[in-house]
Amino acid sequence: MSKSWIRQGYTKVARILGKRDPKSRNFPVLEGHPAAQQHAEVAVEAHESIKERAEELIKEFKIYRGNPDHPNNLTYLQSYFVDLSNCGPMVFDALQKIKEEEHSTLSDRRSCREGICGSCSMNIDGTNTVACLRPIDADTSKATYITPLPHMFVIKDLVADLTHFYNQYRMIEPWLKTTKAVEDGREYRQSPADK
Ligand code: FES
Repeated sequence: MSKSWIRQGYTKVARILGKRDPKSRNFPVLEGHPAAQQHAEVAVEAHESIKERAEELIKEFKIYRGNPDHPNNLTYLQSYFVDLSNCGPMVFDALQKIKEEEHSTLSDRRSCREGICGSCSMNIDGTNTVACLRPIDADTSKATYITPLPHMFVIKDLVADLTHFYNQYRMIEPWLKTTKAVEDGREYRQSPADK
């Protein structure tokens, strides 16, 4: 909900009630109608409360930026302010919103969006996790810090270099193996009875 929409609604209520000064709690046109006066006060208070809450929904994200290909190769945290009332619930959603609406040069990895592939692994507020399963901390009084996975070289922004990881992965071969070849040379199939 935009601030201008709230301001317009508030002004409209005040105008209908003949209320010139929006800060005043007295509505001359309702003199002699205590119930209506009370309803008008409640309506104005509700608008003020919505306005306050709408302002609270702006959340700051401090995101690591860095591009080793850039001549200066400076790394820094860049602040982005996201309206949570207009954003999905996960950190992943906030990142996509920033990329689409503010800064398309921000780089990250993503694929499945359901916590399976691990592509969106990064460090969020000090914890290594996947952004698509990490809910946004709705406490707008503090920023959320997003940095690449630690102890890894960075290709750009939130994209870590996974070459070393995959080399180690190949060395330990952490997958199931069989000594029996498939008869038709295609994939291993499983019947319902095998499950
Ligand atoms: S995009 Fe696959 S785990 Fe997040």
